[in-house]
Amino acid sequence: MEMKQKIKQDTSVAVIFLIYLLSCIALTAGMQCSGIAPSYRFDCHPEADVTQLKCQQRGCCWLSSKNLDEGVPYCFYPHDFPTYEMGSPEQTAFGYSVVLKRTTKSYYPNDVMQLQMDIYFETSYRLHFKIYDPRSERYEVPIPTPKVSKRAPSTDYKVQFSKSPMGLVITRAVDNTVIFNSTLSPLIFADQFLQMSTSLVTPYIYGLGEHRGRFKVASDWKTYPMWSRDHPPQVGDNLYGVHPFYLNLEGASSKAHGVLLLNSNAMEVVLQPAPALTYRTIGGILDFYIFMGPGSDEVVQQYTEVIGRPLMPPYWGLGFHLCRWGYGSSNRTLEIVKRMKAALIPQDTQWNDIEYADGRKDFTVNNSTFAGLPDMIKYLHASGMHFIPILDPGISSTQPPGTYPPYDTGIAQDVFVKDSTGKPLVGEVWPGPTVFPDFFNNKTKSWWLDQIKSFHGKVPFDGLWIDMNEPSNFVDGSINGCTKSSYDNPPYTPSILGGSLDAMTVCASAIQSIGKHYDLHSLYGYSEAIGTNEALVKVRNKRAFVISRSTFPGSGKHTGHWLGDNYSLWPDMAYSIAGILSFNLFGIPLVGADICGFNLNTTEELCQRWMQLGAFYPFSRNHNTIGAKDQDPTAFSVDMQISSRNALQIRYSLLPYIYTLFHFAHSKGSTVARPLFFEFPGDPKLYDVDRQFMLGSSLVVTPVLEEGSTNVTGIFPKGIWFGVNHGTHFQVNSTQAVTLPAPLNEINAHVREGCIVPLQLPYKEGYTTTTEYRQLGFTLLITRSINGPGSGHLFWDDGDSLDTYENGNYLLLEFSSSETSMNSTVSYDGYSGSHAVTVQSFIIATVPHPVSQVTINGTSVAFDYEPQLMNVYVNNLKVPMQFNFYVKWEWQTQD
Ligand code: NOJ
Repeated sequence: MEMKQKIKQDTSVAVIFLIYLLSCIALTAGMQCSGIAPSYRFDCHPEADVTQLKCQQRGCCWLSSKNLDEGVPYCFYPHDFPTYEMGSPEQTAFGYSVVLKRTTKSYYPNDVMQLQMDIYFETSYRLHFKIYDPRSERYEVPIPTPKVSKRAPSTDYKVQFSKSPMGLVITRAVDNTVIFNSTLSPLIFADQFLQMSTSLVTPYIYGLGEHRGRFKVASDWKTYPMWSRDHPPQVGDNLYGVHPFYLNLEGASSKAHGVLLLNSNAMEVVLQPAPALTYRTIGGILDFYIFMGPGSDEVVQQYTEVIGRPLMPPYWGLGFHLCRWGYGSSNRTLEIVKRMKAALIPQDTQWNDIEYADGRKDFTVNNSTFAGLPDMIKYLHASGMHFIPILDPGISSTQPPGTYPPYDTGIAQDVFVKDSTGKPLVGEVWPGPTVFPDFFNNKTKSWWLDQIKSFHGKVPFDGLWIDMNEPSNFVDGSINGCTKSSYDNPPYTPSILGGSLDAMTVCASAIQSIGKHYDLHSLYGYSEAIGTNEALVKVRNKRAFVISRSTFPGSGKHTGHWLGDNYSLWPDMAYSIAGILSFNLFGIPLVGADICGFNLNTTEELCQRWMQLGAFYPFSRNHNTIGAKDQDPTAFSVDMQISSRNALQIRYSLLPYIYTLFHFAHSKGSTVARPLFFEFPGDPKLYDVDRQFMLGSSLVVTPVLEEGSTNVTGIFPKGIWFGVNHGTHFQVNSTQAVTLPAPLNEINAHVREGCIVPLQLPYKEGYTTTTEYRQLGFTLLITRSINGPGSGHLFWDDGDSLDTYENGNYLLLEFSSSETSMNSTVSYDGYSGSHAVTVQSFIIATVPHPVSQVTINGTSVAFDYEPQLMNVYVNNLKVPMQFNFYVKWEWQTQD
């Protein structure tokens, strides 16, 4: 009785004390809180169930109002919210080291009370800083990154340490632009909740994938969750891959920088109009890289220097790919291939989906419906074409012992991801119950190689399509559910689809050879791509062609990507451009969307427009779901077929140029597809453009993205623009919208002035593969340069051997031009000795006056001048390209 009374008394004292405390907080906070502008409010209670009481229990400001914009938090940090105190920075061989200590706990369990921040001045353009627990090792992302131990002698950035408010401020040395400023909100570093904010220079921010949306990331209180996830793309959801990298434009200075948070735990990034962003991740460490550019493409080059440069695809991989789920049989697949060939529609590769396999089991063939698969592949190879099958990671675990070697050998070799009890974790995917290979385990890699090798013996495929590798799981967690541990139920779950870490994947508590799935989840596809690429190289001894659904920073070195299960809808087609541009920022330039749309039935008009746009995707594949109507071009009218053929012929003609772009992606990390502002920096009219895109620096693609339109409005910067369809051109004197005719059977693509673009033009009908096109001589398209010298390149090799760049088995030409001449200089030749490489024709475009003479290396050659188009054509040549050469054209002016 006495005891009860005591408790009651104590509680009431505690309650009175709490009310007193809250009113004190409210009073002091009231003063501080009202001084914080809404756009500078940093959310103190991101959990959905926020109330005033819960907010104030955290010691935060609560100011609610109906007049605020949507998303503005009512509960936000006061300026003096407790965080770490910064010690004195100490100079080290690589930069600085600073100790951060906190004395009060945050409101998440297991604060790391003492942290260390190491700052590495890695190169003049790259700063790296890491905040970690110096006393106890935490998970760090296991992708290879450069190790630097010496401080760069001079840098484009300056670092300032701010003690109050505590944080790091990084500026651009040349103009003091604040690139990164973490003082705006308190740093939290608890075991399963790490939070840090930074200001942005402008709201022009791009990246933060994988997401569906506009290319420019919305900065008005939008949250971007990251946790790899199988789901048809929808705005706001986390998707297949994770890319915590952004590029931020710096406004009037025309400069750009990039920021990578190298962290793979479930995370969200919140953007607010200050402009600023907040990272919230639930594990690992805070490991940041800043890339100073200052050019946008340089930012990507600097980023890929850290995460790994994109692979060099085989030339055939840049041809057109046709796929669908639901051919039903190998005979039907082959029938479509032949139908495409008969319609003279370029196609290099035929794909098959899970239906080729027996019971959808990896490394098997359905011997009734796909009995003809080996013959089909023979036909493809004899026609200079290629074959790619799908391969899912899930291995069927319920076949009778001794009947399914992939499972039996996998169990014997202990290659699968384990549940928390140490047994292989069983989920469910296409073949029913499945186990999941742990690709971080070297034993798994050699087991995977064995399976691929033995399957290749029966089905000689040329590349692999790795799907479902988020990993996707049709039951949440496992068939036995997950644990009650804090890995499966963390104190804070970012706003990911499904609301829980195990949604449609394996348990976060699952165990992999190098750590917990909790940490490694979003790297599953990355690790599978490495193993698959290596296996393909070993089995075929040629360049690997891998297309993966799930990706992470560094994946581009091993695989390309497609944008997943889109819909056959017009907005989905438009969004594909933003997706392709984003993946070029992420160092995965080999990217495309399912042309004509995956889910739903397409319409002929949509598919016609999409075939035209898709002809310019870096990775060009038409793919369709089971049950939907055929959507290869031959399933439609003759007009549709002809326009698809025309668009693909333009692609195939441009492939020497596109291949050269891939060479520069591989050798120096440039983008292949890029937004216009990369090439025309500092022009605000271009910052939002994502209905047009460029391939390299020369070509702008302006597709029709709306039903029923027969013209299209694009934005074109100052200059002369040469249309590849008809050889016509137009000129604009400043960046402006231009409305172009766009009949249903044409796509607009324009070459900028001052470019030299290497092409292979088919002079006879009937070429449908890159194998045929590669036999052609080159045509050089020279667009007149009126504002300074023009330029271009050609990278050429055998298109399929391993490491031709690394081994020096290639030819690299550098082109330059003036208004009346063009030079070709051999930069490197380790190829022409064994292969003839010649120019067969020149197109000199937009020459304003009739030309009187054209000379090549000083010798006159025959030419045609087309006065209406103002183009000069020089044909029937055989100019050897292994020697330097020059071309001159002279015109007579009227006066
Ligand atoms: C999901 C993939 O995203 C899709 O492209 C494929 O067709 C199906 N899985 C069936 O394998």
